[in-house]
Amino acid sequence: MEAAKKKAAYAAVQHVKDGFIVGLGSGSTAAYAIEALGERAKREHLSVLGIPTSYQAFLLAVKHGIPVTTLEEHPVVDVTIDGADQIDPKLNLIKGMGAALAREKIVASASKQNIIIADEHKKVAALGENGHPVPVEVLPFAIAVVQRRIEAVGGKTVLREGKGKLGPVITDNGNAVIDAVFGVIDDAAELERKLKMIPGVVETGLFIRLANAAYIGTVSGVEKIERKILR
Ligand code: 5RP
Repeated sequence: MEAAKKKAAYAAVQHVKDGFIVGLGSGSTAAYAIEALGERAKREHLSVLGIPTSYQAFLLAVKHGIPVTTLEEHPVVDVTIDGADQIDPKLNLIKGMGAALAREKIVASASKQNIIIADEHKKVAALGENGHPVPVEVLPFAIAVVQRRIEAVGGKTVLREGKGKLGPVITDNGNAVIDAVFGVIDDAAELERKLKMIPGVVETGLFIRLANAAYIGTVSGVEKIERKILR
């Protein structure tokens, strides 16, 4: 599995060109891409600037010698390379099991190209399959209210607990994460619209029509899936 993730990450990094502003995704697969980008930049003397989507990505950028910048300085990102938790045939995604969904979606929305990297276990026929939750980042003040509202639109909710820390996970933005299981999601865009209308919801892990290509690492190689972005 690690080899598959690494293959996908190394293939995706070939999209980066000299002078690019690069969105740096979060998670274990994105970590390989940051490593690969650092190696490529060094070997080919590329001048690139990274926009980290999390504190994890920031620390990895520093470790691999990628200078970082901000959306204030560079509000248009050339390419973002990020992982995903589920990928459907249209390249709609569930993200956020690493709790970095809000910054990941902001950086993705500012990017000319979004390249997703994953191993083949992330491919699904429909989002929400296998009881996979949709992560929802929520203002702590609103947790109970948002939970009730999500339940009202059919989600079974759990407040995500920290690992290595007592109490709820706190995101890089100081918020909580509610994991909401809806079962197989028939209309992800409509669910996204309903969730985003709930006061207190900061962001959801449904990434609809954002990705334009995915590299899927398999035992035998890397599969590339592309889609035209209409947005
Ligand atoms: C973090 C994310 C990650 O990209 C997603 O969870 C995939 O992570 P991994 O590559 O470790 O499976 O969305 O918020």
